[in-house]
This record gives sequence, C-alpha cells and structure tokens, in this order.
Amino acid sequence: MNWLQTGWRHVWLPYAQMQTAPLPLPVVRTQGSEIHLADGRVLIDGIASWWTACHGYNHPHIAQAVAAQLQTLPHVMFGGLAHEPAYQLATRLAALLPEPLNRVFFTDSGSVAVEVAIKIAVQSRLNKGERGRTKILAFTGGYHGDTLGTMAICDPEEGMHAMFAGLLPEHPVIGLPRDAASIVAFDDFLDGHAKTLAAIIVEPLVQGAGGMVLHPPSVLRHLRKAADHYGLTLIFDEIFTGFGRTGSMFAFEQAGVVPDIITLSKALTGGTLPLAVTIASDELFAAFLSDSASTALMHGPTYMANAMGCAAANASLDLFETEQRLQQAVAISAQLAAELEPCRTLPGVVDVRVLGAIGVVELATIANPAALRLKLVEQGVWVRPFRNIVYLTPALTITPAELSHLTGAIYKVLSAP
Ligand SMILES: Cc1ncc(COP(=O)(O)O)c(C=O)c1O
Repeated sequence: MNWLQTGWRHVWLPYAQMQTAPLPLPVVRTQGSEIHLADGRVLIDGIASWWTACHGYNHPHIAQAVAAQLQTLPHVMFGGLAHEPAYQLATRLAALLPEPLNRVFFTDSGSVAVEVAIKIAVQSRLNKGERGRTKILAFTGGYHGDTLGTMAICDPEEGMHAMFAGLLPEHPVIGLPRDAASIVAFDDFLDGHAKTLAAIIVEPLVQGAGGMVLHPPSVLRHLRKAADHYGLTLIFDEIFTGFGRTGSMFAFEQAGVVPDIITLSKALTGGTLPLAVTIASDELFAAFLSDSASTALMHGPTYMANAMGCAAANASLDLFETEQRLQQAVAISAQLAAELEPCRTLPGVVDVRVLGAIGVVELATIANPAALRLKLVEQGVWVRPFRNIVYLTPALTITPAELSHLTGAIYKVLSAP
C-alpha cells in the first residue's frame, strides 16, 4: 500500500489529532452498502459516507448520467453561461418544494449554502433600507458547517466560539422552544431582541452533528409563528435531513410549515459529487431586484452548478421518482426501532431513539470513540461513533440482512465494552 504510506506524510485529516490518529482504512471499491478494503475485507456501511449515499454506492443510473455529462460538458462557469442540467435541476427542485420556494442558488458544499442563506437573509433587509438587523438566531446543539460564518451559528462548543472569539461574528444561540420553560425563554428572547435579528436558522426535526438530538414538529410550528410575528426569515437547514432521511422527502413536511429559505446538499447528488443549493422564497428574491447593481447577491463560487454534479442530482431525483425510497426509509425505521431497542438494557446506554432512517444509541459517555470504531470494523461494519452516540444512517437501499448485520454488530460491541 505504497500510496497510503507515502501520502500519509502529506495528508491532513478532518477532525483528527494527527499526532495520534491511526492510519485510515484504505478503500479500493464501493458497491451498494459495501465498502471494500484493500486487504479484502468488506464493511457494511452504516452511515452512507456522512449521510450522502442515499441510493447506495455506484448506482448505475447516476453513474451513467455523470459519465455522459463528463463526455459532453463537465463544467462551464455559471456567470453568463447556462447549461441544461443546472436549469433543469433548479426547475425540478422548485417543483418538488412548496410555494414560495422557487429560487435556487447553487454552491459546492453545505457550509457555503448556509453562508449564502445568511447573506440572503441579511442583504434582503439592507436592500429594503432596513438597517441593524444582522444577527441570526441559532440553537444550542445546532450545527451548520465549518466555515467561519457557519461556525458562528453552531452550538458554541461545536463552533469553538470561545477559541475563535474576536474572529467569529457574534450571534445569539439559545435553547430550542421544545417545552414550556424553553418556549417562555424563547418568546422572551424574541420580545427583547427581534429588532436585531434577520433570521432564525434550525435543522428541522433532528440536530445531526450535535448528537442526533430529535425535536417534535411542534417546535418548527412555533418557530414559523414567531418568525411571522416578528417578520424574521426562517431558514431550515435540511443538508442532513433532506431527501428522505427522516422518512419524508424533507423533514419540514412533517410539521406542515414552510420555511423562507431551505439549504440542501449531501444526498442531493446521491453521494457522488459535491453540490449544494440555497432555495429562497419569491419575496426574498424580489428584495434583490432593482435598477442598481448594488442590490445584487454578491456570491459566485467557481464551481457553482457544476454540470456533472447537476447531472448526478437530476439522476438522483429520477430515482426518488422511479424507486421506492421513502417506503424504504419507513421500513428501515421500523427495523431500526425493533433491532436497536434491545440495546436499551446494555450497560452505559441512556437512550435509544429512531427517526426515519436514523437510529441512535446514546451512552452516558464514550471514552474512546476511535477504539469503539475499530471494534465495529472487526465486526465487519463501518460506523463512526462520536460524542456519546453510536448511530446508523444507512443508504435507503440497504437490505434488511445488511441492516441486521449493523444493528447486531452494535449490540455485540456495546455488550462487551
Ligand atoms: C445540517 C448541516 N448543515 C451544514 C453542514 C455542512 O455541510 P458541508 O460539510 O458540506 O459543508 C452539515 C454537515 O454535516 C450539516 O449536517
């Protein structure tokens, strides 16, 4: 494995203490829910590569669409030039989402999609001459990305607000209005501070990177009501939850309320290419229209609307239309609930919870997540425990037998810590 040993001296891994990080597992091939390692072992993937590969790996329909796109038009700049995959994708996303979410801005990662959402929320007010509303209300436990703007609206610990004090813009981060006391605190906060706010941002139904913490749809309804009352832009960050993960195409559908902006990425291309979108309401878009260039949205990543990414996303949407993804998510949900439930009695387990195709076993603490990960690899599964949780977010195409392999491995490893 020459490339690994040589490259290891030059690669800087994500979220890793490089002094102690073990060598990553070399992968030579993927297929369906399988990750094939260089030494011949095959792991069942429990997390679909950070929640992206919703159709499993190497789906032929996406592979063919990307290959064909590569031959004809891999990429052209989006400023001043147009290509069909992007215009078609924008049209399809707008059709898939309820009114008034009609205007699609393309970027190349989830974090940047959130940055654009923040800029739209703030600039739409400035364009209308409304000054002083530059704060975004975010929530403890929330995660919206790793760029500086998004770190500032993450949970203070996740976003390292203390370490980067002075560098990050300051935004209020408070508890979600999920019970009587937190609703009072939330309402009081808005009473006092709404005039400084441009927007509220939330991950609907589940705070993913914050520990897969669930909240009921009523929270989203409360946020919608408050946003309407105070004239705030409501942003739903569905970068994790979008495309079936919670059992509905988008999590917000379960609450019966519609945001003013939605951000999507991850499963947008079925886990094949980096692409993200920020989709805004007609009213927000209208705030950028004038006779002056100064009210335009000043953003434009070099690789925005990459044609191969858009072709992959269109092919992924085809699969949602032609295959039974949402039914598969519902079936996964039932199997996760049944098969993870026995973990509740294991030592150290404090909660087991399931929402859609997300299954979580929460422990009081996990002393060494990396060691736990290796034990799971020994059981033939790829699962990445973090904080105090072991979780599954498999491909929606995973077979019942593969899913049982995953839940069985978790039970076995947690039984013998
Ligand atoms: C809800 C949410 N928003 C934003 C992001 C950031 O996306 P990216 O890693 O593509 O920048 C993530 C990534 O995990 C996420 O879960």
